[in-house]
Amino acid sequence: MGFFLEIFLERTPEPELMEGLAQAQAYAEADFSQANAQFLRLFAMAFSDFTGHARVLDLGCGPGQILFDFAQKFPGCTCLGIDGSAAMLSHGRAMAKGINDSSVSLQQCCLPLPSNFGRWQVILSNSLLHHLAEPAVLWQTISRVAAPGALVLVMDLCRPDSERAAAAIVKKYSATEPQILQDDFCCSLLAAYRVDEVTAQLHAHNLDFQCREVSDRHLAVWGRM
Ligand SMILES: C[S@@+](CC[C@H](N)C(=O)[O-])C[C@H]1O[C@@H](n2cnc3c(N)ncnc32)[C@H](O)[C@@H]1O
Repeated sequence: MGFFLEIFLERTPEPELMEGLAQAQAYAEADFSQANAQFLRLFAMAFSDFTGHARVLDLGCGPGQILFDFAQKFPGCTCLGIDGSAAMLSHGRAMAKGINDSSVSLQQCCLPLPSNFGRWQVILSNSLLHHLAEPAVLWQTISRVAAPGALVLVMDLCRPDSERAAAAIVKKYSATEPQILQDDFCCSLLAAYRVDEVTAQLHAHNLDFQCREVSDRHLAVWGRM
């Protein structure tokens, strides 16, 4: 029975918004450079013909590091990051002041976004999906606000097979981070969706995107509208 439970680890949801001040600070100060670089590599691989001129929307941008990196790589873009957490966005705003990049704006709002939220040629999202109690809000939002032919890249954690495997991943990648961040990471792994679950979500929303495991802890979804 124990063996059976280990193979089919159920998802344990976590709160959607990261509103705690200490939680947001630990997240903003953590080193996600490896995962963030992987996100940009995946974008370059999936959309090698991207010209670098687009309206770019980052869903659940948090402190915005990925969006700032994206804007630096593609200075012809106009970028908006949205997040429901004021605490997370305050770190992003501080970072924006530091680098003085006027091509990036941040806005506090929650998914699902309405259809009149504009049309976006690039839609990015990293580590948002596992926060959503109802994952449909991400796919509905993308379907509503994507311009025809929009490039979409969503990366997230992938739920491991067991709590023991989740603990091993936390130890491997965040042993030197503050305890609050390690605890959050573990909860996020247990809340994450698996490739088969995300593939089913995509089919349910008629989204013809690829979904693949891209590391020992991440999956990615990419495609064109
Ligand atoms: C793990 S962080 C990821 C931040 C950023 N994308 C990154 O890669 O560093 C997830 C973010 O999604 C935000 N979030 C969760 N649910 C949301 C919702 N329904 N609407 C808007 N933001 C949401 C949280 O507040 C948090 O800042």
